Amino acid sequence: MLTMRGRHFLSISDYTSEEIRFILGVAKQMKERYYSGERVIPVLKGKHLLLIFEKPSTRTRISFEVAMKELGGDVIALTSREMQISRGETLADTARVISRYVDGVAARVYSHKSLEELAKYSSIPVINALSDLEHPMQALGDMLTILEKKGRVAGLKIAFLGDGADNVLHSLMLAAAKLGASVWVGTAKGYEPNPEILKAAVEEAQLRGAEIVVTHDPIEAIKDADVVYTDVWVSMGQEAEKERRLRELSPYQVNKELMMHAKRDAIFMHCLPAHRGYEVTDDVIDGPWSVVWDQAENRLHAQKAVLSLLL
Ligand code: CP
Ligand code: NVA
Repeated sequence: MLTMRGRHFLSISDYTSEEIRFILGVAKQMKERYYSGERVIPVLKGKHLLLIFEKPSTRTRISFEVAMKELGGDVIALTSREMQISRGETLADTARVISRYVDGVAARVYSHKSLEELAKYSSIPVINALSDLEHPMQALGDMLTILEKKGRVAGLKIAFLGDGADNVLHSLMLAAAKLGASVWVGTAKGYEPNPEILKAAVEEAQLRGAEIVVTHDPIEAIKDADVVYTDVWVSMGQEAEKERRLRELSPYQVNKELMMHAKRDAIFMHCLPAHRGYEVTDDVIDGPWSVVWDQAENRLHAQKAVLSLLL
């Protein structure tokens, strides 16, 4: 058994392929036990998780709260506005203090650097609950969903259409590459993935005979894909660029016509929240391809695995 106790989880890159597989195995067990009626598995009895939010959340907040409680622990959820950070207390001092009270912290921040600063001064695990750069908890739930629906991740073609520099895509690319899937990104010029993350994903994919490809042609990206994925065109914090983004990313909308180029048994995924009529149409997200509700549920099981292993 691998031990991950006490470690931070800021990026999918922090964990080896073997460790990701192990986490997914624990997540699968957690889900099976949940459905056999064992909702509470009290391995974190007496432990506390702090959740800090600089931005809104529905899924992440609720699934972390329920996960921690079903593991026998408890949660404190705060927005950064309620904390002294909002009045200038440093992240370093905040990290030192919360390390004395709680057993782990999951934070949703604007800048990934804030997570690195928190992690540097914390003696408890810091978990990325979404930053501008990555959303690793989403990627774990996504891999669990693909495993359930397709029976494997290795060898599949995952197509991501939309904003190529998206945080969810960055973690998806890294996780898929570590598990041997290919990712084809269909995006507009100027929206290419973060170069360092792309390089890391390409290297990981090559090790396993897979590939990471960025194209400006949506049909080339989606052609014969097993999994079709999209996310919003305007992420939290990018509201000032809204008009330009909606205009430039519109050719990458996942609609019924585009879905016809994917494999017949392709599944459609979205981390949610969805902006219906923009990155995806109703007939796709509500159609036979869509697995988005199972995907949202799997955040709960994946995070239970992470919390039980790290805390
Ligand atoms: N997918 C996701 O992280 O959703 P929330 O923003 O609602 O947490
Ligand atoms: N890319 C989106 C994901 C939301 C879960 C955002 O950052 O707003």
